[in-house]
Amino acid sequence: MSSAVASKGLEGIVATSSAICWIDGDAGVLSYRGIDIHELAQHSTFEETTYLLWFGKLPNAEELAAFSAQLAAARTIHPKVIELLRSVPTDATPMQVLRTATSLLSLYDADEADSSHDANVRKSYRLTAQIAMIVALFDRIRKGKALVEADPTLSHAANFLWMLNGEKPSATATRALDIALILHADHELNASTFAARVIAATLADIHSAVTGAIGALKGPLHGGANEATMRLLYAIDKADADPVEYVKQMFAEKKKISGFGHRVYHTEDPRATHLRRMSEELGKAAGNTKWFDLSQKIEAFVKVEKKLNANVDFYSASTYTTLGIDIDLFTPIFAVSRISGWAAHVIEQHDDNRLIRPRAEYVGSPYPTAYTPIGQR
Ligand SMILES: CC(C)(COP(=O)(O)OP(=O)(O)OC[C@H]1O[C@@H](n2cnc3c(N)ncnc32)[C@H](O)[C@@H]1OP(=O)(O)O)[C@@H](O)C(=O)NCCC(=O)NCCS
Repeated sequence: MSSAVASKGLEGIVATSSAICWIDGDAGVLSYRGIDIHELAQHSTFEETTYLLWFGKLPNAEELAAFSAQLAAARTIHPKVIELLRSVPTDATPMQVLRTATSLLSLYDADEADSSHDANVRKSYRLTAQIAMIVALFDRIRKGKALVEADPTLSHAANFLWMLNGEKPSATATRALDIALILHADHELNASTFAARVIAATLADIHSAVTGAIGALKGPLHGGANEATMRLLYAIDKADADPVEYVKQMFAEKKKISGFGHRVYHTEDPRATHLRRMSEELGKAAGNTKWFDLSQKIEAFVKVEKKLNANVDFYSASTYTTLGIDIDLFTPIFAVSRISGWAAHVIEQHDDNRLIRPRAEYVGSPYPTAYTPIGQR
């Protein structure tokens, strides 16, 4: 009936052209604007990487200083958004709250109705600064703690930890988070970015696109996998189980192991290389490598048994736990970073837009099927 043949999950479909991110899944290469992720993780900062994603080139010192100042100046949040954070149930998950509060931000954004290139860039600064603030502010509110004012002298990563914990973060914790933010900043047409581009392509505004992207990120097959990984580590630890036997049993029950597998990479996910190292180094520095050791045992078994590699989420779990971050903040922290990529893609989409509207392979009742009057059914 249908001439179209579906590729389930759009596997292998090239859905747009983009100058932002390039991945070679066979060679395990990830690059932003052509620059290898390993170089960025080693030398760059979240601010510099975000500039690169938005403006297509590395900034010089003056441009980076101006960019960082503008991002820090955007760390203000409308009192109505704080009111919302105070009014939601305290057992709401941070991802639910982030999704709702991000949508609310648009009501108080002076550029809401303007999706020109310049307005999109202005809104991107605000969204990037304010998504991080929402995550930190809600965490303090739900714990009954006093809110912490943003500090414009701190970097994006350091200010987030400061507003979350109420104490100035160590250089080690700041750099670890900064690297995690660089690694998560963009990943081509991943599910949440594709969702953002589909929404933007209707000429809806960037807040709508980012709200939809946060909804997509929440799922355990995407950003939610880092939380699911840590829940698995906790479950194995609590049961005092042998990790290999535990995972073997999960395979026997046809369950997936979060933090493994990838649609695009057929080798090591290059981001996992850094997170594995960070997990080990932070664990050693803290005198507790329990989560790293457990993760390594699972990784070795899954690799041999299923030929699956760890992805970005697997070692994020032990890294964030070692940094003292609560489990349900892992996926929100993914959003704190990925907003930079979402913004770059929405800007690119609006700059050269065409509605995204694919077709479905029809597999329903044959056409024409007669309409049966209700009395005869
Ligand atoms: C990332 C992911 C969604 C990619 O999905 P995909 O490209 O659609 O691949 P599929 O889910 O079809 O998996 C292909 C095969 O590998 C298996 N597989 C993939 N990931 C697996 C995992 N994490 N654990 C166990 N088996 C897995 C599937 O069961 C399937 O096996 P089958 O062919 O025998 O049915 C998938 O690997 C997954 O669910 N991983 C766990 C969640 C996760 O970590 N997500 C974050 C990604 S960055």
